[in-house]
Amino acid sequence: MLVLLLLQMQTINFDHDWRFHLGDVTGAQEVAFNDSGWRRLDVPHDWSIEGTFSEQNPAGAGGGALPGGVGWYRKTFTMWAPDSDRVAYIEFDGVYRNSEVWINGAYLGKRPYGYSSFRYELTPHLHYHAPNVIAVRVDNSQQPNSRWYSGSGIYRHVRLVTSDPVHVDHWGTYITTPSVTEDSARVTIRTTLREERHSGQRVALQTTLFDSAGRRLVSVSTVVDVPGDSTSTYAQDLTLAHPVRWSLERPYVYEARTQVLCGQKICDLYTTRFGVRSFEFRADSGFFLNGRHVKIRGICLHHDLGALGAAVNTRAIERQLEIMKAMGANALRTSHNPPAPELLDLADRMGFIVLDEAFDMWKKEKTKFDYHLDWDAWHVRDLSDMVLRDRNHPSVFMWSIGNEVMEQWNNDDSTAAPIARELAGIVRSLDPTRPVTQAANNGSPQNPVFHAGALDLLGHNYHHEVWADFPTQYPGAKIIITEAMSALNSRGVYTFRADSVFDYHTPYEKDTGPQPPANGRLSSYDNSHAFWGSLHETSLRLFERYPFLSGMFIWQGIDYLGEPTPYEWPARSSYFGAVDLAGFPKDPFYLYQSVWTAKPMVHLLPHWNWSVGDTVVVWAYTNAEEVELFLNGVSLGVRRKPETVSHLVWHVAYAPGTLRAVARTAGTVTATDEVKTAGAPARVVLSPDRRRLAANGDDLSFITVTVQDSAGVAAPTAEPLIRFWLTGNARVVGVDNGDAMSHTSFQAGQIRLFNGKALVIVRAGTNPGAITLRAEGDGLRPVTIKLRTTR
Ligand code: GAL
Repeated sequence: MLVLLLLQMQTINFDHDWRFHLGDVTGAQEVAFNDSGWRRLDVPHDWSIEGTFSEQNPAGAGGGALPGGVGWYRKTFTMWAPDSDRVAYIEFDGVYRNSEVWINGAYLGKRPYGYSSFRYELTPHLHYHAPNVIAVRVDNSQQPNSRWYSGSGIYRHVRLVTSDPVHVDHWGTYITTPSVTEDSARVTIRTTLREERHSGQRVALQTTLFDSAGRRLVSVSTVVDVPGDSTSTYAQDLTLAHPVRWSLERPYVYEARTQVLCGQKICDLYTTRFGVRSFEFRADSGFFLNGRHVKIRGICLHHDLGALGAAVNTRAIERQLEIMKAMGANALRTSHNPPAPELLDLADRMGFIVLDEAFDMWKKEKTKFDYHLDWDAWHVRDLSDMVLRDRNHPSVFMWSIGNEVMEQWNNDDSTAAPIARELAGIVRSLDPTRPVTQAANNGSPQNPVFHAGALDLLGHNYHHEVWADFPTQYPGAKIIITEAMSALNSRGVYTFRADSVFDYHTPYEKDTGPQPPANGRLSSYDNSHAFWGSLHETSLRLFERYPFLSGMFIWQGIDYLGEPTPYEWPARSSYFGAVDLAGFPKDPFYLYQSVWTAKPMVHLLPHWNWSVGDTVVVWAYTNAEEVELFLNGVSLGVRRKPETVSHLVWHVAYAPGTLRAVARTAGTVTATDEVKTAGAPARVVLSPDRRRLAANGDDLSFITVTVQDSAGVAAPTAEPLIRFWLTGNARVVGVDNGDAMSHTSFQAGQIRLFNGKALVIVRAGTNPGAITLRAEGDGLRPVTIKLRTTR
């Protein structure tokens, strides 16, 4: 058994024990190069997030005001028998950007696009029973090359894969379910085998399907003659009786195990997860999943993980998706690039509909050094690789070939339509089962991309004023709102001009229109937006009203680094999120919850720390029929939601105490919420999302930091500096407070609260045991909490 195991394909985690040097070096690809002085680290790694915020960093505030540059990574490893008769590949999920890779001094290639996954074959260059050196040069020095924070380095996972010379090719299975009913599903498995021994072979290709509990269901075996030095594809069909269909409520994932049998020997074993589901977009009535109507209520997400930067961490992505699920979102758009594979795995198992997007630009630039420079040489490969990598994920329902590409603006631009057709053709040749869309913000009916005949779904960004015209403008077309909102808020900031709407012209049109407050704090009443966008509430109401709109993706689910519209430096992260950069909900989060979730809720804003004499504008979001407001037990009246508005309003003469909202439907209380006046901050409070972590070196606890008065009421506007001390086998790996103007390093051991909140992120080490985290602030009672890591 052991021998067999050794002979099967092996995938080895290659994340650990790299050496890193920031800056360019000559000769670092050579085996003999001395890297002993370089820093030791594990990837995923993002060197930009370790840097200092500065106006001088050439990425600009739009890129997060953090440094780029050139970095080198080296990893030394030894291969043991019986690997010498085998083939070996190194797989990178993503390196930002312009990576070049060498093995033992031999050049393997370059990959400009920082979001593509790729691999190189190492076989002919490997030494056995002796050290081998992989060297990676990453060049993110040409800036700006992105409209948002990209991160720099080997920021996703790396693997070493060894296998027999006859094996399943990279991304070598494609599983479709051409017919699905309640009683049965036909499952077609196309497997691409690669033969590298230069001699033909007869093998048995055996595919077995397993349910999500690991029970074997059905199997098929086909004898095939694989030609020498070839790649060839074989189709097999299986039938699943009474399939559990993948749905948002029950995201059920099956597994296909492919064995390549060379006589008695298992030459390869390859696993593919897939789902069984049917879906359809209809022009008049939207999206249907397994025959049931589903309104696609989505969010756009960039890839950064706040204080952790771009470095992939599965738990950090999972937390983001949990927060989005709690808001009521059922879909996400990977704006504007192929995501980390872990995001799609999570979407598969948590039940999200994914719009998988390839590019933010085509041939025409958005920023000086962006991917338009690589377009001609690389777009076919990058787009193909995204589809090949992602086409088995049940969560992926649509492909987007681009976001707001500049080509769409010239109505007689003969480049837009041919490119759109070329890209859609590439996608369809690799996956005809999902619709192709493109996110266009040229709302003109003449938009050449919409007339190219390339798209299955017309993807429209912003301009909700034209939504009503779609059915007449594009008769029979299927429509999705690929992007909407761009409303602007800071968490916990309330200015009482809540009834006025601010339409901010951004740095792009600096001196016109209202100017945002100079302190970089925008009110969290839903009352400001970028001039091309809208308030959350306005577009949301329209979207819910039109049945022909199959879905909508709001900009943005969660704040991200870079693009601090309507500001420039000293701001360095976005204001668009329904949730701030640290993961704390802003008030519009509850607007979505009130429309998109059924669990009874009511949310009251603002906080209740004002001055006597103030008239406070109080809002409530609820999914109940009515809300009664009480100040210190005295009713201030019942409000029922009017037809035209999604929030309830009271104007209240401030008195300290407790403001309480009681939500009712049909006379029964469904939910309550309250805000209380806090006295002077007296003590620090740490609230971890999880106290027990896996001792795997990756797991995280996200700990909310607040301060309370002596009676235990959280102080909503307090902003003291809090310092942290940790003991045990874990590290503080990030601090944040959601303030877009903060220039404190995310890796500092201290953070100032922003409107009463901050976040500290603790990462488990690899030894199980107890961890303590202590937090102190001047004049405040300190606190120590205990966490534990277990095997
Ligand atoms: C859109 C764009 C997004 C983001 C957003 C900000 O036009 O697609 O990437 O820039 O605007 O409002």
